[in-house]
Amino acid sequence: MQDKTHLVDDITGHRRMRRNRKADWTRRLVQENRLTVDDLIWPIFLIPGDGIVEPVDAMPGVNRMTVDKAVEAAKEAADLGVPAIATFPNIEMHLRDETGSNSLVRNNLINLATAAIKNAVPNIGIITDVALDPFTSHGHDGILREGEIVNDETVEQVAKAAVMQADAGADIIAPSEMMDGRIGAIRRALDAAGHQGVGIMSYATKFSSAFYGPYREAISTGGLLKGDKKTYYIDPANGTEAIRDAALDVEEGADMLMVKPGLPYIDICWRMKEAFGLPTFAYQVSGEYSMIKAAGANGWIDEERVMLETLLAFKRAGCDGILTYFAPAVARLLSKRG
Ligand code: PBG
Repeated sequence: MQDKTHLVDDITGHRRMRRNRKADWTRRLVQENRLTVDDLIWPIFLIPGDGIVEPVDAMPGVNRMTVDKAVEAAKEAADLGVPAIATFPNIEMHLRDETGSNSLVRNNLINLATAAIKNAVPNIGIITDVALDPFTSHGHDGILREGEIVNDETVEQVAKAAVMQADAGADIIAPSEMMDGRIGAIRRALDAAGHQGVGIMSYATKFSSAFYGPYREAISTGGLLKGDKKTYYIDPANGTEAIRDAALDVEEGADMLMVKPGLPYIDICWRMKEAFGLPTFAYQVSGEYSMIKAAGANGWIDEERVMLETLLAFKRAGCDGILTYFAPAVARLLSKRG
């Protein structure tokens, strides 16, 4: 009878993966990826008014805030070391129309928030989405004409809105509406207005996803949306098309790229980072967040560990950072651990 150790050694040729896993110190020593507070971008929701913080039912732990409260939140995030926030406005229904004209009002909710945060918390980055969906009466990201989301007219408006956002103090413009040619148009418009230093984080690969549900509750577009966004967002079946779309954004001058949603599209994160080498971000979207919160609240998963594991997965997949509603919770946790 052969000795059992010899049997295994015959198979492994003395290579044993478990040697490096045997103790906490070896595991720490060989760890390849690490999640830090520097990887986090915190998306927040804005509402008009003063002194109000109200919960978003479909996103436990996430609130909508008036500008004064958003300033406090931004201060807290900066104190925790979170590098940047991303803002999304929930504007009054009577201000929403077919073309999203409120996006071109200089002192609209998103621009007021940017100016206030920039003034009070100058050391946090402000990333503003420039899609039209918070401003339209139909919940689409662009201008609706005779049943069609018109591309070029939307791009023109989005570029103008981007300049106003930059005027208000936005550091990075993040267009999420997936119109063709938008990155180049925004770059030209920003440069013409003297905003050479304002960056563009392209929602380069934004998929037509069911994971956005809770977000649409948060900015009250869910009930408004007629039809779907399949004529401008990418089909979840298409990876190569997504890379082609991102390539155009790179050519047009994007400074950073984003994949959205995150975890279901983690293959795209990897492919995009490999293909372009640009700073690459994943947006762990509302549905991903709410699923983790719901399962955690039911005791079906360990919420904290799943939160950290999903965020670490993005790092392993080549992402430089993650937009996540968990940002303050993660920052607090990481600072406790030192
Ligand atoms: C639309 C937009 C969406 C999100 C942010 N901006 C998607 C949509 O409603 O189609 C989703 C964010 C999330 O789900 O967390 N421009």
